[in-house]
Amino acid sequence: MHNTRKVTEDIVWLGASDRRIELFENVYPLPDGMSYNNYLILDEKTALMDGVDESVSAQFFENLEVALSGRILDYLVVQHMEPDHCACIPQLISKYPNLQIVATAKALQMIHQFFGLDLEGRTIAVKDGDDLKLGKHELTFVAAPMVHWPEVVVTYDKTSGALFSADAFGSFGAMSGNIFADEVDWERDWADEARRYYVNIVGKYGAQTTALLNKAKALDIKMLLPLHGHIWRRDLYQIIGRYTKWAGYIPEVDSVAIFYGSIYGNTANAADVLATKLAEKGIKDVRVFDTSKTHPSELVSRAFQYGTLVFASATYNAEIFDTMHTLLVDLKNHNLSGRKVGLIENGSWAAVSGRKMREILDSMKDMEVLEPIVSIKSALDEASYQELEKLADALEESLE
Ligand code: FEO
Repeated sequence: MHNTRKVTEDIVWLGASDRRIELFENVYPLPDGMSYNNYLILDEKTALMDGVDESVSAQFFENLEVALSGRILDYLVVQHMEPDHCACIPQLISKYPNLQIVATAKALQMIHQFFGLDLEGRTIAVKDGDDLKLGKHELTFVAAPMVHWPEVVVTYDKTSGALFSADAFGSFGAMSGNIFADEVDWERDWADEARRYYVNIVGKYGAQTTALLNKAKALDIKMLLPLHGHIWRRDLYQIIGRYTKWAGYIPEVDSVAIFYGSIYGNTANAADVLATKLAEKGIKDVRVFDTSKTHPSELVSRAFQYGTLVFASATYNAEIFDTMHTLLVDLKNHNLSGRKVGLIENGSWAAVSGRKMREILDSMKDMEVLEPIVSIKSALDEASYQELEKLADALEESLE
């Protein structure tokens, strides 16, 4: 049965959720599934804003047919060519013989790369600033390279004030009928997954995301319609404020997140002792994460959230412990910058993890490593305990 909702009188949400999916992009765990949005504008011409992932295509085609209500589909706007929104292009092309695909030249080239389709006479190439008039709706395309692929455009509808924002302002997680952010407790239930989504999918491209936010300031935006997660029609500042911080690598929480990689529990013990010392100093919202237990995508998200980070790692194969190494490389790859950092190393015979962690951090932008770097031989002893106390003092001072 079809399952659609009206966004406005003539903009219809056709999306669907997949609760069976385990991994987004075959890498990010989805404990609560994933949603794929798309939108149909019904005007003198009909325009479909993106498609869906193959997993929800049956629901999508049923929704589309009902929403069109016997009309033909004139345009498919492909805002970027990632398969989670474009898997159904070949079927759309054959089902709607008059359909024109509207996309950037680069996206059209990618359609050919993915599907090898002959689209002669069936495409309209657009670039930044171009318009497409549907009737009373007039769409303007705004280039948003690397948010999240290079060929991305977002689309502003002057008539409704809707910004079809592609992957920007999206989230992990299936939706449950309440497709508008004002229909859920977004801060309580969705902000963490929206951050994990942004940070992991687009986080590397903060400068490009900031550029898009700046372009958006010039538009009179009344609604944000992303390809994943909730539609924003009220309190847009909430999500835009979050994005401004995430894109600028600005922490949301002025406290300490401690990440440890521990083999037999002694490095974990140092992390816990440090957390308690910080708590005793009155520092609130301290978080401790086991890099072997918590998925890297969540750890990266928390590192973006917190202003001060501590990395505590055992030495393993004369290297940083594997899961800690993965985290630090992930943070570097996502361009995290501007954090205060504490380091704890452990090694029973040749501790090198402190030096090696520092090397990675020194190759990142504006990462300030605090002194002392605590060195533990097997387990905390009186000397290393005192060093840990000094690190707690330095962390407290850095928060002031
Ligand atoms: Fe949701 Fe970049 O695709």
